[in-house]
Amino acid sequence: MTDSAHDEIPLAQPVLGAAEEDAVIRVLRSGRLSLGPLLGAFEERFAALVGAPLASAVSSGTAGLHLALRAAGVRDGDEVITSPFSFVASANVIVYERARPVFVDIDPRTLTIDPSAAAAAVTERTRALLPVHIFGWPADVPALERLGLPIVEDACEALGARFADGVAVGARGHQAVFAFYANKQMTTGEGGMVTLADPVLKERIDSERNQGRAPDMDWLDHDRLGFNYRLSEIACAIGLAQLERLQGLLAQRARVAAAYREALAGIEGLELLCADEEGGAVRGWFVYTVGLPRGSDRDAMIRALRELGIQSKPYLPAIHLMSYYRETFGHRAGEFPVCEDIAERSVALPFFPALSEAQIERVAGALADVLGRRRST
Ligand SMILES: Cc1ncc(COP(=O)(O)O)c(C=O)c1O
Repeated sequence: MTDSAHDEIPLAQPVLGAAEEDAVIRVLRSGRLSLGPLLGAFEERFAALVGAPLASAVSSGTAGLHLALRAAGVRDGDEVITSPFSFVASANVIVYERARPVFVDIDPRTLTIDPSAAAAAVTERTRALLPVHIFGWPADVPALERLGLPIVEDACEALGARFADGVAVGARGHQAVFAFYANKQMTTGEGGMVTLADPVLKERIDSERNQGRAPDMDWLDHDRLGFNYRLSEIACAIGLAQLERLQGLLAQRARVAAAYREALAGIEGLELLCADEEGGAVRGWFVYTVGLPRGSDRDAMIRALRELGIQSKPYLPAIHLMSYYRETFGHRAGEFPVCEDIAERSVALPFFPALSEAQIERVAGALADVLGRRRST
């Protein structure tokens, strides 16, 4: 791809082509727009790809997290230990069930919950753990498993990631939730998937995503509370087409990440957040974030990049310091210093499979300029 110094470089860009168009048109012509044959096909293909026994497709990552948490038995008054350094949905779903999110600080190297902090936070009210594989880096779930509590993994950013023990994220047996918004590794427009091993829990999730009906739709007497968290056939068709190209998309993302690492390594004071691979763990590339030097004016830097045609954004703010969480749970600054330090300094840069070497070079040069830092190449 050619790049001129004036072309706008977006933050994200989905890869969609003739295969997705054809698949959508076939669905429209079939007249089956929801609860048709593509739902099961998409679930089976996704489960096989991740190496999970089962999968349930849902309307979003948030919907998947909500149903996965209910399946873990979380109820009114329970506590769920989770990360304050995440997209807000992973905490919100705990509140949906009138349970309490118990935040613990993150490990500065992995940016995911520190297992020893999680162990120290367990009480008799702890019903589950909700680790978040933020920025696609796998949380230390093997260490969390030793706490003997139900686990729901937020894998919304982590398709393609692997744990240090070689197991793919999504294939450990407990519920793991993926998301398919347009900026993710693969997209269905909106959508999500829960992978799991227990057929009883799958039956519950499949029923609750469809208003509490039995999966075979045999009866209309709803004997449990449900939601409309269904994924349409149109979305499943896009998802199946995206799965065909997934390995290529993941490889392209890894290429872009490697090029960024090389281009940004020489900028004085800039921190590259999380490893690409370490101790056998592998990152599933979702986003490219950097930590600005302490004391930088992040907003001014983002504005200056925008003037140069480069999109970027603060990513991620700390959940416990959001107004709703401060007001509802009485959180305050200083509770989770590692999370707060990273949340104040982290910035997401343009990141998508088609990003060219020239564009990456332009982002790196602009970043060094707006930071006023030396860049050794
Ligand atoms: C870490 C994390 N959790 C949950 C979600 C929610 O996914 P969705 O937007 O599909 O509801 C996202 C998506 O942005 C995410 O990044």
